[in-house]
Amino acid sequence: MLNFNVQLNDTASIVEIALKEMLQKQGNDLMSAPIRHAVLNGGKRLRAFLVIHSCNIFEVQKDTAIQAAIAIECLHAYSLVHDDLPCMDDDELRRGKPTVHVKWDEATATLTGDALQALAFELIASLPNTDAIRIVELLKKLAKASGMQGMVLGQAQDIQAEKSEVNLNINDITSLQQNKTGALIEWSAISGAILSNHDDRKLLDYAKSIGLAFQIQDDILDIEGDAVLAGKRLQKDVSAGKATFVSLLGIENAKLRAKELIEEAIDALSDYGDKAEPMRQVAKFIIERKM
Ligand code: IPE
Ligand code: IPE
Ligand code: MG
Ligand code: MG
Ligand code: MG
Repeated sequence: MLNFNVQLNDTASIVEIALKEMLQKQGNDLMSAPIRHAVLNGGKRLRAFLVIHSCNIFEVQKDTAIQAAIAIECLHAYSLVHDDLPCMDDDELRRGKPTVHVKWDEATATLTGDALQALAFELIASLPNTDAIRIVELLKKLAKASGMQGMVLGQAQDIQAEKSEVNLNINDITSLQQNKTGALIEWSAISGAILSNHDDRKLLDYAKSIGLAFQIQDDILDIEGDAVLAGKRLQKDVSAGKATFVSLLGIENAKLRAKELIEEAIDALSDYGDKAEPMRQVAKFIIERKM
């Protein structure tokens, strides 16, 4: 795990540099500062890591992989900026820094999210060394993963669950989380197969398992995590009376379930040999992480 942490940090540095260069090319305008605040200097860059190593399995060129990786980080950052808004989770801290609506205002935060979403699609649409057909496939999947059948749906289900008197069962929670968190993780994990026109089914199985395990760990950290390490407010779920994997399964069973899911994820990669080792390691990291 020590070596793996080094690898994760190295990938995060590459992603950070690529994001900085890309944003420099976008010029320096009214929206530059809040966008840079939302995207740079923070985040584990897990989705980017998945893209880069999914691409590596299928020998997608490095600069193509990195551009797809920074695109998903922009999209993810947009989802966080909006998630933190007062009308959503009303959070003041993200990645150890004030949220965009706190540092600027709500209108700026809304627009920052909007712009980051558009930027993600622009980056995929202009992927280097890639056939137009592959680009369109990846764009369609990104639209689906992020929109009304994916992340946005999951966020809406999440908010509905918080307001509703009816308690969700494990199937409801699984569906909600698969949309809210799972969809972007799935897109990231299959991106290499899509770009190289290979079968993505095994990677999709892998991604479904790590996506759920990721959210179980998010719920566990919400209860027993360290807010300083996490860089965000914790203990929100219980105070919101929110049904989560932990509230339904209990913390010990939630941990066991997360472990099982990671074993299933690793099994799904058995066809891919050594090249998939980083994807196996990141699966383990997902349930061991403290942030
Ligand atoms: C946090 O995602 C929000 C959820 C989807 C639960 P991450 O834990 O990947 O956040 P960063 O990018 O590392 O800050
Ligand atoms: C956020 O989920 C998910 C998305 C932004 C799509 P949470 O609301 O649980 O994430 P945190 O706990 O604020 O990071
Ligand atoms: Mg939320
Ligand atoms: Mg939140
Ligand atoms: Mg959470």
